[in-house]
Amino acid sequence: MTARGLVLAAIAAAAAALVAGEVYGAHAARETFEILLPLGALTVGAARLLVLQRERAGGLRRQVLLAAALVTGQLLVAVGLFAWLMLVSHMDVLFTVLVVAYSCLLGLWAARALGGSVLLDLRAVRRGLVQVGEGEREIAIETRGRDELADLARDVERMVERLSVEERARSAADDARRDLLAAVSHDLRTPLTSIQVLAEAIEDGVVDDETRREYAARLAVHARAFSGLIDDLFELSRLEAGDIHWTMERVAVAELVEETVDAMRPQAEAGRVVVSTELGQADAWAQANPERIQRVLFNLLQNAIRHTPADGSVTVRAEQRDGAVEIEVADTGSGISPEDRAVVFDAFVQGNGERARSNGSAGLGLAIARAIVEAHGGRIWLADAPVGTRVRFSLPGR
Ligand SMILES: Nc1ncnc2c1ncn2[C@@H]1O[C@H](COP(=O)(O)OP(=O)(O)OP(=O)(O)O)[C@@H](O)[C@H]1O
Ligand SMILES: [Mg+2]
Repeated sequence: MTARGLVLAAIAAAAAALVAGEVYGAHAARETFEILLPLGALTVGAARLLVLQRERAGGLRRQVLLAAALVTGQLLVAVGLFAWLMLVSHMDVLFTVLVVAYSCLLGLWAARALGGSVLLDLRAVRRGLVQVGEGEREIAIETRGRDELADLARDVERMVERLSVEERARSAADDARRDLLAAVSHDLRTPLTSIQVLAEAIEDGVVDDETRREYAARLAVHARAFSGLIDDLFELSRLEAGDIHWTMERVAVAELVEETVDAMRPQAEAGRVVVSTELGQADAWAQANPERIQRVLFNLLQNAIRHTPADGSVTVRAEQRDGAVEIEVADTGSGISPEDRAVVFDAFVQGNGERARSNGSAGLGLAIARAIVEAHGGRIWLADAPVGTRVRFSLPGR
């Protein structure tokens, strides 16, 4: 910085000398150069010192004032020297010095005023940052200028906006995690309590052999439900953590649907529910993991059968649409109430405000189905149904 300042001072002094030489001859040119160059070098040196000692110079306003004072001082000295060396009359010297001093005074005042205005903007930014530190997230920083400080103020506002969005997301995730933990512990406790009660009854030896056998059988049922629940939880937490290492392959949709429906038929027949398929385009292919999609279909069919009264029906449809495959499980059952429709795909949500039934269902089926479908790049939703429920999902076609 100093070298560049010195070069500038030398060039400016030479230019001034050239002008003086043109008008008053070589002598004037030399004197001009000899006066201006040392003065310029001194000013550059003083400016450098000012920069090096900035921390001692105090606040911004004082720094601006010092820089202005430097220029003013240089101006006064230069004028004084010229007047003295060039033997200007006393009257001229007096008036010249007065005019220069007056201009310098006003210049100083202008510098101070500008410094003050910059300072106000700086204080506004500072106040904004203090507010952010105190937890405020809706701040507006008013600046007067349209300069770097104004840019800084906008940057700060944008940063606070991002911060607040991230904080909200984090707090929502924390709430969700807390709710999930509460739901998990509640839902695990229910079958566990049954297991405990049955085991104690068997252990006490107060029941006869037949009752003991019956209790042991019930205990096995509860233990299986308990184990299924833990498997579901484990699967859901892996899916939600994005821990997905499946191989995707070309899947014949019709075949997969028929196979799954056949596997569920005994359960449907037990409830006197008729399950049928409508596979318009039998040649529909999807890019998917067959076991996972079967899991989705199992969950949907299980729900449909569970919520459909005897003599009702469940229909599975599949069709190709816009390069994707859409599969629907429709039933003629009780349907899902409007207030539940928005939340049934969330974990641990069960209809009619019910929670943790003793049959081992925990409200995880649809959450798992959604996680699997979304991991395939598809989506799952409740389609409009005049009667019963229609759950529909899409898969990327092939
Ligand atoms: N076909 C359907 N008809 C009526 N209600 C349904 C249907 N499918 C889902 N529901 C409602 O949505 C809720 C959530 O379904 P989800 O499959 O996630 O859980 P669940 O069946 O209760 O338990 P889980 O699937 O873990 O055994 C159900 O409790 C039920 O109230
Ligand atoms: Mg279910």
